[in-house]
Order: sequence, then structure tokens, then C-alpha cells
Amino acid sequence: MSNCARAEHLIKPADLRGILRYVPMFREHIFVIAVDGSVVEHEDFANVVTDIAVLRSLNIRVVLVHGIGKQLRDAMAGNRGAQGDFYGEGATDAPMLALARASAGAVAQTIIESLSHSGLKTALTNAVRVTETGVIHGVDQMFTGKVDKIDTGLLKHLLDQGVIPLFTPILCNREGRSLRVNSDALAAEIAIALGASKLIYLTSFPGLLINGAVVVNMPLAKLSAIIRERKTNLIEERLRSKAVCAVRALENGTTRAHILDGRVGGGLLTEIFDKVGLGTMIHANDYEQIRPARKKDVQAIHALTKQGVRRESLVLRSRAHIEQHIDEYFVYEIDESVIGCACLRRYADRHAVEVGSVYVQSFYSGRGVGRMLVEYAELKAAESGASKLFALTTQSGAFFRDVCGFANGTLEDVPAQRRAEARDNGRNARVLFKKLTPPRKKPSRERSA
Ligand SMILES: CC(C)(COP(=O)(O)OP(=O)(O)OC[C@H]1O[C@@H](n2cnc3c(N)ncnc32)[C@H](O)[C@@H]1OP(=O)(O)O)[C@@H](O)C(=O)NCCC(=O)NCCS
Repeated sequence: MSNCARAEHLIKPADLRGILRYVPMFREHIFVIAVDGSVVEHEDFANVVTDIAVLRSLNIRVVLVHGIGKQLRDAMAGNRGAQGDFYGEGATDAPMLALARASAGAVAQTIIESLSHSGLKTALTNAVRVTETGVIHGVDQMFTGKVDKIDTGLLKHLLDQGVIPLFTPILCNREGRSLRVNSDALAAEIAIALGASKLIYLTSFPGLLINGAVVVNMPLAKLSAIIRERKTNLIEERLRSKAVCAVRALENGTTRAHILDGRVGGGLLTEIFDKVGLGTMIHANDYEQIRPARKKDVQAIHALTKQGVRRESLVLRSRAHIEQHIDEYFVYEIDESVIGCACLRRYADRHAVEVGSVYVQSFYSGRGVGRMLVEYAELKAAESGASKLFALTTQSGAFFRDVCGFANGTLEDVPAQRRAEARDNGRNARVLFKKLTPPRKKPSRERSA
């Protein structure tokens, strides 16, 4: 039986319907995928290529960069003459460069074989030019280089043709001399130059390890603070360069960076399309996933809040009511699916604003989404000139108080209209409130929410 015929038997026509929702998701987006040498050498590397084939079938444009750390370490174990760092973060002498060239050639060929087997087109190019790193802290880095110039026109042309540009960490300078670069940094520079929406590091670690534990969701501000405050020793040593490069890419326009174990079957697709993901997602702006609700969100908000109503934590709001008040709602979205919501209600007394209908889908709970929604409400209420934000809640008083910094209040703290409503509805909800400070003017370089 041919491969095609076998595939036809494996796929049920009904499965194809499910694929439709993924088609528009990242159409024409550019993903830069950096694969560690250890992942290419792994027996299941073909699974990574299968995942890349799926991304290509969804019209996602892929650039591949590979590392050679594992191969170089093995090669150097048998060669006492070569000196330097296996992972491209230090100086490279001539014997090491020779080994690195051989390792890069072999790894690139393995990748090309695998891509060819999956019917994917690829090209090795000189679209990235490098230059000598020079002397750092008094040490001559010799044949170590850094990115000098990227021919984005050539890369975009290849991407337009459905080709996957492939980069090894051995690149040429202006004179055509080979230099060794750090593959993590190379991938980040390419992601920035191409305006990629994702920079994905496939490693042999389960994600970004901080103090030995995988962080599932890492805001850029938090990671850049760790680096700025020189606390990188908290990060697993082999992942520090990836963390630094991810921060650089995100600070220069890449929307997200991911660090995950490339040896897990289907891991790449799980990280991109599954709500829970597999490794670590580093995202640019805490509030970028929050936006004002639109008419098309009515159904999602209604479905979310209905779950809260069942648990008696939220008041029943009909679809028509939500639609009529859609301007009051905002939603937290992950890959175009609404996973949390909240609303801001204003009263005749403009000084006090209510945050309500805070709901986060249960498998996202504990990841900071609820707190972010409430913080966003604070920000918006303060921007509108309010001096107090309050919430009426039956079951989440402790969340507002202990997690969001609200204080216990009484019905005297809420506007008269709301006080009357609360007395009439018999829910006996607790009142929590927070005093707001007027918003500071943002420095011009700060990203907008
Ligand atoms: C309350 C809710 C919005 C929190 O969302 P979340 O995304 O899980 O919250 P975060 O991840 O930002 O915060 C997690 C923290 O809040 C605490 N928390 C969550 N729900 C809580 C509750 N009902 N009471 C007390 N603490 C709570 C968690 O224990 C966790 O504490 P930790 O950081 O010390 O571990 C969510 O649980 C929910 O949708 N609940 C049902 C609806 C509801 O009650 N809404 C509020 C009425 S308006």
C-alpha cells in the first residue's frame, strides 16, 4: 500500500472538519524554530519534522536554525587540541572551528534528509552575514562571530515560495571567512529581522527552568528583570542563553517565545495549538492578551459566565443582556479563544466603578489570569477618573482581598443604586473595594497595554 493510500485509511473525514479552525489562526505568520543539536540527534527527530509539515500545511512560514552543542562536545571529547565552549558562547580557536564546521555540515544534512522525506522544500543560504565578535573582557574571541546583516528580501522570497530557510551556526563574514555563532542568538536576530510572531526553542529540557521548576507562563517583564538584576543563576545554566535571546526578541517586536522539549512526540503542535501547552511561553506584555469585548464574543462570555452561575459565584446574565452591555466587558484571549472575562460597571456616582463577572476557565486557573483581569480593570477605572473600584462577591472575597489587594467593605462603600440592587437580590454578597491612584503618564518607550 502506498504512503498516500495508508494516510487515507488513517484519517477519518470527520477529523478534517476539526482542522478548519486552525487554518486561519497563524496563516502567513513567520515562526523561527531553533533546534538544539541534541534534538536533531534524537531518534524521534522525524516527529518534529512531521509537526513542521503540519505548520506548513496551515500556511505558516517556517525558518529553521540548528545548534551543534551536543555534536561538538562529542567531537571535542576525542580531540585534545581544540579548546573553547561547545555551545557557542565563548571563544572559538581554529581546531574548534574545524570541528564545528564538520558538525554543522553533518547536522544540516540530517535535517535536510528529514525535510526531504516529508516533502518539504529547504535551502541553505548566505542570507545572514556575520562579523568577528572581537575581544571581550580582554579575551580574543578568535573565530566566534555575531550577526552583522540579514538579507530579509532573500528570506522573504524563499518563504513566499514555500521554502524553509535552514541556518547552521557556521556563517560567513564579508570576506567569505567562516565564523561560529551562537544558534540561540542567530534565531533571535532572524526572528526580529523578519518580524516573526514566534521564536521557538526546541531543547532537551521540559521548559524554562527557574530554581529547578518549569515556568509555564513567563511575562517578559519578569524575565527581563531577572536578567537585568543579574539573577541569571536562578535559570538552568544551559537555558540562560535562550532566556536572554528570547528577551531580546520580545523587546524588539516578536510576540512570543517558547522553550520546550523537542523530543516529545507532537510537542511542537501541542505547544502552539493546545490551550495548556507543553513547555514555557514567554509573552511580551502582561495585558496584551486582554482586549475590549466585541459583539462576536457574546457567545463565549455567556458560556464562560454560565459556569460561574452554576457554582453560584456569578449572577445570571442573559445573552441579550451581555450583548446590550458588551462595551462594559473585556476578555482574556489565548490564540483567538476567550478563556477569561470581566466587566466594568459605571454608576451615576462616577467615583466608584464595579468590577464584576470575573471568570477564568478552570484549566487556566492559578496562572495569574484572574489577577491580570482585575489589574486591567483597576487601570481602566483609574484612567476614567474613578477613585474606587469595588466588587460584590459571594465566593471569591479572599481572591479579591489576598490576591488583588482589595479591602473588606460594606454596602456603604457602593453607589446608592447598586446598594439597593444588592439588598433586593438576596445574594448576601460581600463587598470588597480598592482605592485607586490616578494613572502615571507612560514613558514613551513603554509598550501600550
Ligand atoms: C476567582 C477567579 C477569577 C481567579 O482566577 P485565577 O486566574 O485562577 O486567579 P489567579 O491565577 O490570578 O490567582 C490565583 C490565586 O488566587 C487564589 N484564588 C482563586 N480563586 C479563589 C477564591 N475563590 N478564593 C480565594 N482565593 C482564590 C488561588 O488560590 C491562587 O492563590 P496563590 O497565588 O496564592 O496560589 C477564578 O477562580 C474564577 O473564575 N472563579 C469563579 C468565578 C468567580 O468567583 N468570580 C469572582 C466574582 S466577580
